[in-house]
Amino acid sequence: MIKAKVAGIGHYVPERVVTNFDLEKLMDTSDEWIRERTGISERRYFDPETDTVANMAAKAARMATEHAKIDVQDIDFIVFATITPDYFFPGSGVLLQRELDLPGIPALDIRNACSGFIYALSVADQYIKTGGYRNILVVGAEIQSSALEMNDRGRAVSVIFADGAGAVLLQPADPDKDQHILSTHLHADGRYAEELYVKDPGSSRKERLTKDMIDDVGIRAHMNGNAVFKHAVVKFHEVILEALTANNLEVSDIDLLIPHQANLRISQFIQKQLRLADDKVFNNIMHYGNTTAASIPIAMSEARQKKVLKSGDLLCIAAFGSGFTWASALIKL
Ligand code: UT7
Repeated sequence: MIKAKVAGIGHYVPERVVTNFDLEKLMDTSDEWIRERTGISERRYFDPETDTVANMAAKAARMATEHAKIDVQDIDFIVFATITPDYFFPGSGVLLQRELDLPGIPALDIRNACSGFIYALSVADQYIKTGGYRNILVVGAEIQSSALEMNDRGRAVSVIFADGAGAVLLQPADPDKDQHILSTHLHADGRYAEELYVKDPGSSRKERLTKDMIDDVGIRAHMNGNAVFKHAVVKFHEVILEALTANNLEVSDIDLLIPHQANLRISQFIQKQLRLADDKVFNNIMHYGNTTAASIPIAMSEARQKKVLKSGDLLCIAAFGSGFTWASALIKL
């Protein structure tokens, strides 16, 4: 049976660095509060003059294709995970396809929030396994900053989320080599949909967008931070063990764990539950905040650049977020 491998990894983050001290000037918060509760020191915000979700994704994609040593023109499928598309519709997949000058190839959009990248990876994995495509670009890209409320009312959410893009290129694995995606594991529980969501504008109300929606918090992300935290630490642990069990592996077989960068305290909690040493877990939320679907591929790319993630490593990625959705994957690099 054909298996898929991760042949290339890339990322792009906007140039503008926004520190906790910058946020202190806009809302009643403090560097100390943000670092203690989330681990974040700084994050990147897009430049409305130059950055779009699609063109940030294109930069990450070009880096991934260079790493894979293929031409951008060889990409034959795009799977794009984002909850902050450039337009309400169409999705950013087609905009990325246009940006990369690849007319005709399919572009599929995935909107599973923080788990979006692993959902997207699992879709691409299936298409490679069934032999339909040979160079699938899997992207996670987000611009969250333009929707954040930069005042006291929005502070609990605004200090966490940020912008960026990451991409991987999947190809059929070489049957003589061990480099391949071992498995992906996906879950969802819609009973918690409203614990982390943006309600408006929505299609099921008489008027899709009203002034009240703008004045009230409907167009802003609502997050029950405590509920998210409590479910996250349980589901991250479960879904990582599920992936290991499915492959007859132990926690000690993991060379590197990259959890979705939701909150450093969540990552540290998971690390403790699994009894993993510090050098077995990669976090970069300190510098980039929570970039939703982009956080895992950005972290994979940075870990590779820093030589923390190497060829031959067994990588475990895991995510939890809005939906609730959660997911994991085991990847032999
Ligand atoms: O990808 C999934 C994304 N989401 C997450 O991962 C979120 C998971 N949850 C969390 O990380 C945490 O729940 C938060 C970091 C969001 C909040 O931390 P917490 O320890 O759960 O704080 P809290 O919501 O219980 O709030 C504690 C206090 C409150 O004040 P009072 O009621 O105790 O007076 C808040 O109003 O902190 C206040 N607060 C802030 N203070 C300074 C909330 N946001 C801020 C802020 N700066 N930015």
